This record gives sequence, structure tokens and C-alpha cells, in this order.
Amino acid sequence: MNKFEPNAYSHLWFKFFHIGIAETRTAREIDFVCACAPLPRFRKVIDLCCGMGRHARHLFNRGYFVTGVDRDGVAIARARELSGGPNYIQADVRDYQLDACAYDLVIMMSQSFGYFDASTNCDVLRRLGASVREGGRVVLDLWNPEFFSAHQGERDLELPDAMVRERKRVEDGRLFVHLDYPDGGYDDFDWELFGREQIISLADSMELDLIIACTDFDRAVGPDPSNPRIQFVLERRAA
Ligand SMILES: C[S@@+](CC[C@H](N)C(=O)[O-])C[C@H]1O[C@@H](n2cnc3c(N)ncnc32)[C@H](O)[C@@H]1O
Repeated sequence: MNKFEPNAYSHLWFKFFHIGIAETRTAREIDFVCACAPLPRFRKVIDLCCGMGRHARHLFNRGYFVTGVDRDGVAIARARELSGGPNYIQADVRDYQLDACAYDLVIMMSQSFGYFDASTNCDVLRRLGASVREGGRVVLDLWNPEFFSAHQGERDLELPDAMVRERKRVEDGRLFVHLDYPDGGYDDFDWELFGREQIISLADSMELDLIIACTDFDRAVGPDPSNPRIQFVLERRAA
């Protein structure tokens, strides 16, 4: 991936942060998704920014029909190698044509929404909202703005195989993260941050209602400023 592209996930990011994700963590996230969009009412799913397909694979194994989309060719190739179940497509989420009302459920997991400027993020949400049928749902697993406002600065992340230096700051409603890897490689990411109120007002203009805002993939636990992640479930309004 071109380093000049914003939010280009390097092979080092995949190596240190993605490949080793525990199956128990993925299973918990999938339990949450399945509870928010149970079979058989929800079956056709698109996993946008699917990475190496950890959610797509699990959902397929539980009986959903799944399409995974990611712009990273290596991630998509690995996803295809790991399971022939879901249909995988290499594409940029900004360009990928989502058919209207084609899905029961859209998921964007692990802070995969918010990478672009405000108007592009709005356009992405509008298109993915329009791609679910009436009563269809959108699951967004995002960074919690309140957590990051209180947790800026530098720290060393002790990973099983390496120490990664992380620097993060929040500015004008965006989170900026710089990672330095042990071999001199680095990554830069930035996200527009969305709290509950911002998501409600953004979604409202797109015929989407917020039906769940929670943390820790537990529908019973409200957003928590001490947890970096927040989950929103939106439902497409009936016309
Ligand atoms: C943090 S990873 C999450 C992967 C997966 N959703 C998960 O939870 O394991 C973010 C993914 O978004 C993908 N990505 C970033 N920008 C993208 C874009 N513009 N279009 C499609 N995929 C993108 C990256 O290649 C990466 O695989």
C-alpha cells in the first residue's frame, strides 16, 4: 500500500496487530454482531474493510451469506486462503458500488469508519445505509472520543513479539496516531471521531436510527469513557 495514502495499513501493522488476534476476541465480537442481527431475519452481510476476513469467516460459518471488501490486496489474498466461504472483493470503500437495499446487515469492525474527511465519511455512511433494506442494520465498531481525549501522548506498547512506540493526539474532533516499529518502519492513521450525539445526527439525515450504543460488545453496557471502543448499531427506517 502506498505510504502517501492516508490510513494505509502497512504489512508491519498487519503483522503486529492483526494476524495474532485471539479467536476468543473475534468470537465475542461475532456473538455481539449475531445478537444484533439474528438469523434468519438477517442473512446477507457485507463486511467493509474486512482485513483478513476474521469476522467474515466466522459469520459464514454461522450461516450468514457474507461478502468481504478491503482495499489491501495481501489481506484479501490471505482471507481467500483461510476460507473459501465468503466472497471477497479487493476495493476501496470510497469507490465500491453498493447496490441499494442489497443487504440485511453491514458491518465495519475495528475502527474502520472515519478515515476520511467529514464529507467523505458522511458519503460512505449514506451509501452503506442505502445498501441495507428497510429494517436492515449497520454495526459500527469505533474509537470512543471520550477515551482518547483523556489518553493522549506517547507510550510503549509491549506486544508479544516487539515493542511498538505509539504517539496519539486529538485535534479538531480527529484522532491522530503515529506508530514506530522496531525496524524503523512506521504508520500514520487518523480518524474523525464520533460520539453518540454525532452519530445520531449524522445517521438521522440518512434514514438511520441509532438502536444500540454500547461498549465491550455488550449491549447491556453503555459507552464507557474508560474503554477505547464504542459500538453503534443503526437501523434503516421504514419509508
Ligand atoms: C483495523 S483493520 C480492521 C480489519 C477488520 N475489520 C477487523 O476488524 O479485523 C482496517 C482495515 O481497513 C482497510 N482499509 C483501510 N482503508 C480502506 C479503504 N479506503 N477501503 C477499503 N479498505 C480499507 C485496511 O486495509 C484494513 O484491512
